[in-house]
Amino acid sequence: MPSGAAAGGAVGFPLARPRRLRRGGALRRLVSDVRLHPADLVLPLFVKEGIDTPAPIPSMPGVVQHTRESLRKAAVEAARAGVGGLILFGIPADKDSRGSAADDSSGIVQLALADLVSEVGDDLVIMTDLCLDEYTDHGHCGLLTDKGEVDNDATLERYGSIALAQARAGAHVVAPSGMMDGQVGAIRTALDGGGFPDVPILAYSAKYASAFYGPFRDAAECAPQFGDRAGYQQDPARSAVEALREVTLDLAEGADAVMVKPALAYLDVLRVVADAVDVPVAAYQVSGEYAMVEAAAANGWIDRERVIAETLIAIRRAGAQIILSYWATEVAQRLR
Ligand code: PBG
Repeated sequence: MPSGAAAGGAVGFPLARPRRLRRGGALRRLVSDVRLHPADLVLPLFVKEGIDTPAPIPSMPGVVQHTRESLRKAAVEAARAGVGGLILFGIPADKDSRGSAADDSSGIVQLALADLVSEVGDDLVIMTDLCLDEYTDHGHCGLLTDKGEVDNDATLERYGSIALAQARAGAHVVAPSGMMDGQVGAIRTALDGGGFPDVPILAYSAKYASAFYGPFRDAAECAPQFGDRAGYQQDPARSAVEALREVTLDLAEGADAVMVKPALAYLDVLRVVADAVDVPVAAYQVSGEYAMVEAAAANGWIDRERVIAETLIAIRRAGAQIILSYWATEVAQRLR
């Protein structure tokens, strides 16, 4: 008997050779079964009130806080590249304890949203992050009680009102990210009651209390002024069972699509969710994931483009149909 598999053709039996299908780029391309298409990608965009030139975000090289004008240009560029959608975050000039700018019909998000809808609304899906943290002076995702805790049920009313303001401004999809219990149901009820039964909800269902959001909090100027978000976002040290519970509740409340966030450190969760549901599943490649790659690449430590492509294909392989990524336009341009 031959000893060991390494003997190859000399062993006297037909050796299985998976390597046959890896010989050459054309063959690898033919057999690849995980693909990324520009339309799978969603570009997050930040718009800030009261600036007249785009403001770079130091912890996210290449990403800026847009003016309304530069936002339109970025949206057109994304549309030309074939990107599937945009998700808009607004940074108002004035913040207060209840996040009044979030549902102000003349607030920055609503104005910028209307710009986007008229500029590229026929070509891609315009979504809005639906939360309070960018608008509150304390930086939390909801209203606070006297004791300084996030008041779940009082926050739901605010979310309903924000959903209506965003829908009136033309949002195609609203994406609640605050992790309040019952938020999807409250938003669905508000939208239906306000004449927007056709506006879908993409729920940030399984959203973890993650240090990978660090750079985003610079971008959206929304770092909590005290405490953290661990009281409402999920604990990374719990298995996907809890994510499934969140997803199941959101679907029961009327979510049309669900999201797992962050992406790369939660691929196991993504796989479990993707296998369990029959709605589109999105994953958010968040600011810290972006910053890590950009920083390492700037030092010449990794091959930037290959690492970007590899992270995105990993997220796709784990089951995400839709991927939110700050590289969406760049990658879409390369894919075309
Ligand atoms: C909340 C929200 C956050 C992100 C998206 N929506 C921040 C948070 O929960 O602290 C993070 C996105 C990123 O890090 O890229 N409105």
